[in-house]
Amino acid sequence: MGIVITVGMEKGGPGKTTIATNLAVTCVIAGMRVLLVDADKQRTTATWAEGRRDKGIEPPITCVEKTGKCGRDIAELAENYDVVIVDAGGHDSIELRQAFAVADLCIMPLRPCQPDVWTLPAMIKLLDEIEERTGTRPQVRILINGKEAPKKVRGEYRETKDTRDTVDLIDKSFGGSMPVLKSMVSYRPAFWRAFPEGMSVIEMPKTARAESAKEEISNVFSEIFNVELASVDQSAAA
Ligand SMILES: Nc1ncnc2c1ncn2[C@@H]1O[C@H](COP(=O)(O)OP(=O)(O)OP(=O)(O)O)[C@@H](O)[C@H]1O
Ligand SMILES: [Mg+2]
Repeated sequence: MGIVITVGMEKGGPGKTTIATNLAVTCVIAGMRVLLVDADKQRTTATWAEGRRDKGIEPPITCVEKTGKCGRDIAELAENYDVVIVDAGGHDSIELRQAFAVADLCIMPLRPCQPDVWTLPAMIKLLDEIEERTGTRPQVRILINGKEAPKKVRGEYRETKDTRDTVDLIDKSFGGSMPVLKSMVSYRPAFWRAFPEGMSVIEMPKTARAESAKEEISNVFSEIFNVELASVDQSAAA
């Protein structure tokens, strides 16, 4: 039985599809049997996967679309994979609730800004309702995405004040109930360049900027699975 990772957030546009697709490729390259599930009626992940298939990019990523009451289907599909990654769309929907309810881990991408943080009480309420209904509360991690790149201060890279303030605000406001992944993803054009090519940033040609994006996604993967991603060359990461 594989694990289900649902990438979901009520807010539109914080990077759910970007994270789901990049994580899927990273998992496949690490040797896992991966299924990507598009549970968002926008079909962005499915369109990305179709583009990848049509361009013949290796390794292939298997993607299915599931809408409506999709929880049981997702759980059953997980029996045949090591990991099922669900892109659950950007509003409170039946798909988001069902995909969270069957998830081993819910990843909530969040831009480091107040309006995104303000959506978290609604997400906590949604998790409370899932727990009341199922008796189980899924594990959650906030993933800061689209932040400023770390800045070099006295020879060391440090997160900017805005990013640190956002993490502090989440910690203080929610008392650890919404833990933030240490690994964060910066705003990097490599993400929106790779996407229409049906690719992940880890497959992009080697440039200093792409390498930073690769390193960040690899770190997110490693933190989630607590394993090293040996197949990705991180040596040139800026
Ligand atoms: N770290 C990043 N750096 C640069 N661009 C990014 C990053 N993350 C996401 N983007 C870009 O931001 C836009 C929105 O991202 P994405 O589609 O992944 O968000 P979403 O949460 O899935 O949106 P929706 O709610 O519409 O489903 C896309 O153009 C994507 O390429
Ligand atoms: Mg999306």
